[in-house]
Amino acid sequence: MTRLSGKSALITGSARGIGRAFAEAYVREGARVAIADIDIARARDTAAEIGEAAIAVELDVTKQESIDAAVAETVAAFGQIDILINNAAIFSAAPIVEIDRADYSRVFDINVAGTLFTLQAVARHMIERGIKGRIINMASQAGRRGESLVATYCATKAAVISLTQSAGLNLIAHGINVNAIAPGVVDGEHWDGVDAFFAKYEGKAPGQKKREVGEAVPYGRMGRAEDLTGMAVFLASDEAEYIVAQCYNVDGGQWMS
Ligand SMILES: NC(=O)c1ccc[n+]([C@@H]2O[C@H](COP(=O)([O-])OP(=O)(O)OC[C@H]3O[C@@H](n4cnc5c(N)ncnc54)[C@H](O)[C@@H]3O)[C@@H](O)[C@H]2O)c1
Repeated sequence: MTRLSGKSALITGSARGIGRAFAEAYVREGARVAIADIDIARARDTAAEIGEAAIAVELDVTKQESIDAAVAETVAAFGQIDILINNAAIFSAAPIVEIDRADYSRVFDINVAGTLFTLQAVARHMIERGIKGRIINMASQAGRRGESLVATYCATKAAVISLTQSAGLNLIAHGINVNAIAPGVVDGEHWDGVDAFFAKYEGKAPGQKKREVGEAVPYGRMGRAEDLTGMAVFLASDEAEYIVAQCYNVDGGQWMS
């Protein structure tokens, strides 16, 4: 279990949820991991729980100086960054006629600009040091097609898939592989928030939307963060060297492409 032995990774939004599961899996595979999150208190707790292979780094992906500082802090701690997972994102939902411009801008700023400019900062570091690195962006089944109440979030995740393709094609010239993972519905605090949106807009009881989406997954249940770690480890491993600019569905059979 040491496919990432000697590697160091920066994972955005990894204080909780899927990002945290990635951090735990990477440490199990021998990597050191920076738990980079806007919620620094929780990032510190998470890093302490994972152990000495993890450090907490404060990061707001909407602020360039914060991205630069987080990259510098991780490089100072680990020597270099071999793997980046762009995982931080927020969800939002509203009928088209109720979408608020400020909310739209905030979701795009975190999910799209945050992904692009963190990727850019880490790619610059990798190119400067001649590191044949790996970058993994978190997309979603929401990026594969629109959803009636989820226009803004869906559009951000479609943008993440597109950015993965462009960055993947551009950076492979430097030996840096950029790929993406598209989960389906993954249980956790994120989906508690999603459930609350649907309770509001579809008049559902709390927990009802969650039950419905879980039952609709061909596999038969919602995903768990741990269901995604195999793909995240694989894409960062030597075995994935020839994989460029792809987005993989890990969703229990929800989407085919
Ligand atoms: N949970 C799902 O069903 C699901 C499905 C498809 C895709 N995804 C994607 O997977 C990724 C992880 O999802 P999750 O369910 O673990 O989400 P989550 O909401 O549990 O975790 C997101 C993390 O990002 C952090 N964050 C928020 N804004 C930030 C900012 N500006 N800078 C830095 N960190 C910030 C939060 O503090 C939090 O720790 C996201 O990109 C999400 O869109 C999730």
